[in-house]
Amino acid sequence: EKGGYEHFMLKEIHEQPKAYRDTMLGRIDHANHQVVLPELKLSVEQIKNIRNVHIVACGTAYNAGLIGRTVIEQFARIPVENDVASEYRYRSPIITPETLVIVVSQSGETADTLAALREARANGAHVLAITNVVGSSIARDADDVLVTLAGPEIAVASTKAYTSQLIAFYLFGLYLAQVRGTMNKEEVAHVLAAMEALPEQVEAMLGQADPIKTYAEHIAKHKHLFFIGRGQDYAVVQEGSLKLKEISYIHSEAYAAGELKHGTLALIEEGIPVISLVTQESVMEKTVSNIKEVKARGAEVLAISYEEHAAELLKSVDHVITIPKTLPILTAAISVVTLQLLAYYASLALGHDVDKPRNLAKSVTVE
Ligand code: M6R
Repeated sequence: EKGGYEHFMLKEIHEQPKAYRDTMLGRIDHANHQVVLPELKLSVEQIKNIRNVHIVACGTAYNAGLIGRTVIEQFARIPVENDVASEYRYRSPIITPETLVIVVSQSGETADTLAALREARANGAHVLAITNVVGSSIARDADDVLVTLAGPEIAVASTKAYTSQLIAFYLFGLYLAQVRGTMNKEEVAHVLAAMEALPEQVEAMLGQADPIKTYAEHIAKHKHLFFIGRGQDYAVVQEGSLKLKEISYIHSEAYAAGELKHGTLALIEEGIPVISLVTQESVMEKTVSNIKEVKARGAEVLAISYEEHAAELLKSVDHVITIPKTLPILTAAISVVTLQLLAYYASLALGHDVDKPRNLAKSVTVE
């Protein structure tokens, strides 16, 4: 059932182009350049009245929600907060009938996420679940369900579920923007065209994993490392760091690149790997200065960026891995694949049980 792959995780990484296509299928009206989500009960009236959005989830689904936030804020200009489900209920969040709560869960069975959903509904919020399992507890209890069509995910480390959650957020963000009039038809069409190119771009990346494998074998010798990024890249490195810890047991921290000098820079010493994700051109120069700060303290830096920036970046870093280019708001759906492969090959190099890491379960049904 691993379809010729050594592990479910690798199989699932390779299934991502299909998961993207399946999650978009039937939800894009090509003739009118718009997103259609007929499954939603959320009315036009309700959408117009949304005052704030809470995105609540655990682990990788939480990390997908970080991207969801930037997408909804940019596309629909609605303020969004992210919460870890196990914290949400206990901070007495400000929920009103104009609050849209989005819970994100691959399995649809995560106990903390389910409890947060119930709390939100009890407080009068409309709850939209983004889930991969149609008949799950979370799908049943939510007011609305946006299904991700990633297919069954077996490996404990989530990969294709995360990226299909991103696709769901892109679609939902555009849908909100259409209804609220925050984007015009051309703007929506521009994003849709870039989204539809993603599956092929990821396919191309999957055929060129060798440099990632080599680099993974290199970091496997280290006990600690850092990830840095700004904006979307910061959200993506948080997922990359979780993935690496989860299956390779290498300790890592993901930092907003500009925040290092407020304490963490003290941990940078000779030879420590720093993986920088550098796709956001508007802040690229700033990230490069942060890279120089760690280089000056002896760090060995990898930059993950676009081909067109490789030569310039190589003046400041030790290694560059390139990825295909897309719109700044969509980069996560591409860049995360590099970090998934990095975690996979590091775990493999260390001889760990890639699909079943120690101490962890696929579905966490205790609070
Ligand atoms: O099924 P869920 O999406 O609700 O699961 C949430 C987390 O337990 C899950 O994403 C976990 O963080 C993964 N093992 C990470 O790879």
